Amino acid sequence: KDGATGMEKVLLREPGGATAQIHLYGGHVTSWRNERGEELLFLSSKAIFKPPKAIRGGIPVCFPQFGGFGALEQHGFARNRMWAVDINPPPPPPFAGTGPNKPYIDLVLKPSDDELKIWPHNFELYQRVMIGFNGELTSIIRVRNTDTKPFTFTFALHTYLSVSDISEVRIEGLETLDFLDNLQEKERFTEQGDAITFDSEVDRIYLGTPTKIAIIDHDKKRTFVLKKEGLPDAVVWNPWEKKAKAMADFGDDEYKHMLCVEAAAVEKAITLKPGEEWKARQEISAVPSSYFSGQ
Ligand code: BG6
Repeated sequence: KDGATGMEKVLLREPGGATAQIHLYGGHVTSWRNERGEELLFLSSKAIFKPPKAIRGGIPVCFPQFGGFGALEQHGFARNRMWAVDINPPPPPPFAGTGPNKPYIDLVLKPSDDELKIWPHNFELYQRVMIGFNGELTSIIRVRNTDTKPFTFTFALHTYLSVSDISEVRIEGLETLDFLDNLQEKERFTEQGDAITFDSEVDRIYLGTPTKIAIIDHDKKRTFVLKKEGLPDAVVWNPWEKKAKAMADFGDDEYKHMLCVEAAAVEKAITLKPGEEWKARQEISAVPSSYFSGQ
């Protein structure tokens, strides 16, 4: 629980009925439902909501590192630390649609001595989670360097989308782009397909992606539109059958019902000088596919 407020999680509800649930553990969005109460994020039935690991599903925040190398744990520590509710946040960043009229919560993570031992940089990581009048889910991220020296980090919002059947899903917006294939030692390839479809394990970092990506769930006749600012890369991940079985906090068949599309800043790490701030924003909406008219 958050020491100051005693809170464990927060529920946002907009007047139309859409909701979002955020756990302070990880500053982690664990549920996002539309006005009909349909869950739009995947959350594993085996998810564990306490240390040492991140919650399996929802939107883990990967900071100060995406991936696993060096002394830092895989995907950094922000996703498995307790964040605090920020009752007096610094002024919001100048992104569209950040007004106080929509239900939102401000969270913050500052390093304790434990974190400073593994990553010796004083920082403030802010996240505003907001649910809009059309049920869209927005995360606004800010990282501040409160240290006396510069630091460098990579970042991702590791969004797990809920899909009815992965073999009926396609992604539009990543065609012809270069990607690093995590399954082939990060070798660089160029995407050849018209749209990305799934019939085996996928773990790729698409580079220099557009600000808008569409994930089309054919079975559900639903399209997720993911819009992003400050996050040039997009990780696409599905563990498929074998890796699913190897993960203790993930059901054997759950890979069929999820897809991670992760807005990220990975290829070019971000460096902040003392006093500087970095901002990023992600907005996801879920619309009937018939409403969606392409890119
Ligand atoms: C993805 C990575 O973002 O996260 C994969 O590209 C990784 O390589 C996956 O397997 C899950 O990571 P974790 O640490 O949450 O099991």
